[in-house]
Amino acid sequence: MTVAPLAAAMQIRPALSEDAPRLARLAAHAGTRWSEADFAGSLGGTARGWVVEAAPAAPLPADPLLAAALRPALAAAILVQPAPDDWEVLDLAVAPACRRQGLAKWLLAQAGAAARAGGAQRLLLEVREGNARARAVYVAAGFAQIARRPGYYAAGADRPIEDAIVMAQLL
Ligand SMILES: CC(C)(COP(=O)(O)OP(=O)(O)OC[C@H]1O[C@@H](n2cnc3c(N)ncnc32)[C@H](O)[C@@H]1OP(=O)(O)O)[C@@H](O)C(=O)NCCC(=O)NCCS
Repeated sequence: MTVAPLAAAMQIRPALSEDAPRLARLAAHAGTRWSEADFAGSLGGTARGWVVEAAPAAPLPADPLLAAALRPALAAAILVQPAPDDWEVLDLAVAPACRRQGLAKWLLAQAGAAARAGGAQRLLLEVREGNARARAVYVAAGFAQIARRPGYYAAGADRPIEDAIVMAQLL
């Protein structure tokens, strides 16, 4: 996969538990429905993540809570669950205004490199069958369908019951 350089004004860094409120705002904006508690719990446990944000104009204070409060809105984020053989992508979201700039590709490459360095064989994920945009991104990033989970996503007020497509990228 070819990944274009990140725009100079943007930076990528590991996600921190303190990012949970901004991660939840990004997820709500992108429609992935992860809550602040979900992010805080995962990042406080064994999950790992990376975020893309505008590079700060001035150095941030050392105190992580203060620094988190002063950071701008997140442009994009990925959360992954490490495991011995397969790492799983738990969430991937790009703010609507920042799409089609290669940020998802960048974050998938970052997660894949970390998984490879951690000794994993594959990066796995589940995606709604009807999420054509995300499926196109995953295919462009080298993922292929390996299974289907019928009726995996329960129906909601605005969505019908839907199958999950399980996709894998060999590392
Ligand atoms: C899916 C999503 C993460 C893609 O983020 P993105 O940063 O726009 O994707 P990228 O710019 O890295 O796209 C990578 C490649 O995927 C393909 N792609 C991206 N968006 C696409 C679209 N709308 N339609 C078709 N192909 C698309 C292209 O090949 C693209 O490369 P190109 O721009 O050089 O042609 C973003 O649209 C999003 O947050 N959607 C809502 C949340 C979501 O569905 N998350 C995934 C849950 S499983």
